[in-house]
Amino acid sequence: MADVDKSIEFNPADLAAGDGRALALACRDLDILRIGSSGDPLFGEAYGRLWAEFGSAQEMETREVIERRLAWRPVLALGESWLRYEMILVRRHGGFVATRDHTAIVTQRSGTVQAVVHLSHVLVDPAWRRTGLAGWLRAWPLQTARACLEEAGHSAASPITLVAEMEHPDPQFPNRLIRLQAYEKAGFKKVDPAAVSYFQPDFRPPADIDTSGRPRPLPFGLVLRRVGREQETAIRGAEVREIVECLYLMYGTGFRERDMAVVRQSLKRYPDAPAEIALVPPTR
Ligand SMILES: CC(C)(COP(=O)(O)OP(=O)(O)OC[C@H]1O[C@@H](n2cnc3c(N)ncnc32)[C@H](O)[C@@H]1OP(=O)(O)O)[C@@H](O)C(=O)NCCC(=O)NCCS
Repeated sequence: MADVDKSIEFNPADLAAGDGRALALACRDLDILRIGSSGDPLFGEAYGRLWAEFGSAQEMETREVIERRLAWRPVLALGESWLRYEMILVRRHGGFVATRDHTAIVTQRSGTVQAVVHLSHVLVDPAWRRTGLAGWLRAWPLQTARACLEEAGHSAASPITLVAEMEHPDPQFPNRLIRLQAYEKAGFKKVDPAAVSYFQPDFRPPADIDTSGRPRPLPFGLVLRRVGREQETAIRGAEVREIVECLYLMYGTGFRERDMAVVRQSLKRYPDAPAEIALVPPTR
């Protein structure tokens, strides 16, 4: 248990506007555990839960990739960028309640320092859904962003953007709609998919990719919370590109360059820097 730290705070100011229900959640009995390394016994529980939920759909990175990200602690410096990966496990009296993982990426590519936080996965035990806990799970990554900014030598008050890659809505998959509704209710907005076609790299092990002939990037929507700018209804092409470049920088640390090249190609079809792109409700 030496690697687990419990320093995660309940900061009401970090909650999204639509996540007010989180304030009423009785948190006293909850253990919020930040997993510090793959050597921690709780890593197996957290990773195992995420793998069971997302692995079969190719939506979870291999254990090896995640172990490498955990080893970045406190941050991985990559050129002018800094990356910090975190996995959180929530338990109550030793039982599973929820888990999530995310990566903060601090960048100054546009000339302005900012943190982009990739919200990788979140899983709430069915008994704890719609209780407000999901709101806290969406807010805690802001602490990761600030820690990463400070490790990089920047102000923790720099702009922060949370970004989740989410499937496009499809009536055949009601669970997708539930995820999108949850983020929409919280106040997240989606980059208009008619203007930007985002692709996530292929998560399969390299041997499987090779056996199948080629990497298969998956189309996703980009669902954002630009902290402090939640009311804005449009985003510039340059900002979308910078967010996606952050995601690809993170993925590039774990995946082969030739598998990343396919998704990087898609950036060529992105709107120009000054273009104004609508931010639409995630369920649309
Ligand atoms: C997605 C998930 C984390 C959301 O957890 P949650 O606790 O239900 O989230 P929220 O409390 O924020 O949900 C808010 C809104 O989402 C919608 N919603 C949630 N569950 C719903 C359900 N079963 N049916 C219809 N709408 C639902 C509602 O609009 C709900 O608001 P309401 O409770 O006021 O009606 C949870 O469903 C889960 O763990 N799912 C499995 C894993 C997953 O899909 N993870 C997300 C992708 S990484």
